[in-house]
Amino acid sequence: MAVKIAVLKEAAGENRVSATPETAKKFAALGALVAVENGAGEGASVPDSDYEAAGATVGDRQSTLTGADIILGVQGPDPAAIEVAKPGAWIVASLSPFAERARVDAYAARGFEALAMELMPRITRAQSMDILSSQSNLAGYKAVVLAASEYGRAFPMMMTAAGTVSAARAFVMGVGVAGLQAIATARRLGAQVSATDVRSATKEQIQSLGAKPIFVENVEGIEGEGSGGYATEMSGEYQRAQAELVSGHIAKQDIVITTALIPGRAAPRLISDAQLATMRRGSVIVDLAAEAGGNVEGAVAGETVVRHGVKIIGASNVAGRLAADASALFSRNLYNFLSAFWDKDSNRPILDEEIGDAIRLTRDGKVVHPRLLG
Ligand code: NAI
Repeated sequence: MAVKIAVLKEAAGENRVSATPETAKKFAALGALVAVENGAGEGASVPDSDYEAAGATVGDRQSTLTGADIILGVQGPDPAAIEVAKPGAWIVASLSPFAERARVDAYAARGFEALAMELMPRITRAQSMDILSSQSNLAGYKAVVLAASEYGRAFPMMMTAAGTVSAARAFVMGVGVAGLQAIATARRLGAQVSATDVRSATKEQIQSLGAKPIFVENVEGIEGEGSGGYATEMSGEYQRAQAELVSGHIAKQDIVITTALIPGRAAPRLISDAQLATMRRGSVIVDLAAEAGGNVEGAVAGETVVRHGVKIIGASNVAGRLAADASALFSRNLYNFLSAFWDKDSNRPILDEEIGDAIRLTRDGKVVHPRLLG
């Protein structure tokens, strides 16, 4: 029997959607039945009729979920909202397993197999399935655009008959996927850009984008790449040296974009209130780590606060503000994942151990992911 894939309308505040007409069509070509909840694509500017034209059925939540084998979401669905789905159904979404532990337990109790896409291992063959990369890239771009629109001055240098406008100085802290895109975007807008990270491998990447690397010297950072390319918590000595370096540099910056994250931990604090006080009034900071606790003292997720005359944008769900592009990439990540494991004989996906065990949170009524046990 054909596998049924359900595409849910996300909860209020989330404009992205987990399948586009393009991926719905591709799933149908694999032999799946695709059911889309009414209005699922609205926030991403996709009308129901486009899904129908792609071969999907569109209906209410109950008919979408009934008999579904795979439930797609951007964020994890509220367990109460998917009660009618059958036990054993897969939930494939960004599930925030550590922050939303009760929800994971509820998925287990209902017998769902929950697959957390943000735990996808960073191995070459999984790059096209990596939602963190696809969404961070857009967030890095949008962070700079948000900063530019809040900033009461221009980014590029302009020579006009009335005088010269000087270029903005932008500093990017944390040069992963989001940070690299932030550097590129700030450069395109004409800012003078500098950037820092704890991973020395990023130095060359910063330079190759035409920005200036600002690095702690003489204290051991992360040579090359940490585990899976991620950062770890730094030593006290490193943190002190970093604070000193930032203090000297930040007072001269107009725009700061912070993106530093450490998987499974609170975001590292990179800018203190005292450092904020040294910045020029009217400067703008976008803290992309605000939801993970914030890189900037005083940042509040989802809000803009002003301290010492500096605007701190505690950005949350930034990729969701580019809902159409973010949905297109997110949906392709989900399609690339499921189609890579599509078994032609049984006409359904069968995961291998390396990827399946890395992302599977629940199975057969139990929480099974090692990071959620004991
Ligand atoms: P992330 O979102 O976990 O962190 C953002 C950045 O903050 C990282 O560059 C990290 O080193 C930096 N950071 C952490 N603590 C810091 C501190 N105290 N001060 C300054 N910076 C700090 O990282 P993201 O964007 O997920 O990428 C991490 C790495 O993974 C990169 O090397 C990237 O190239 C690699 N990657 C590999 C993929 C693959 O092979 N499939 C896919 C995507 C990324």
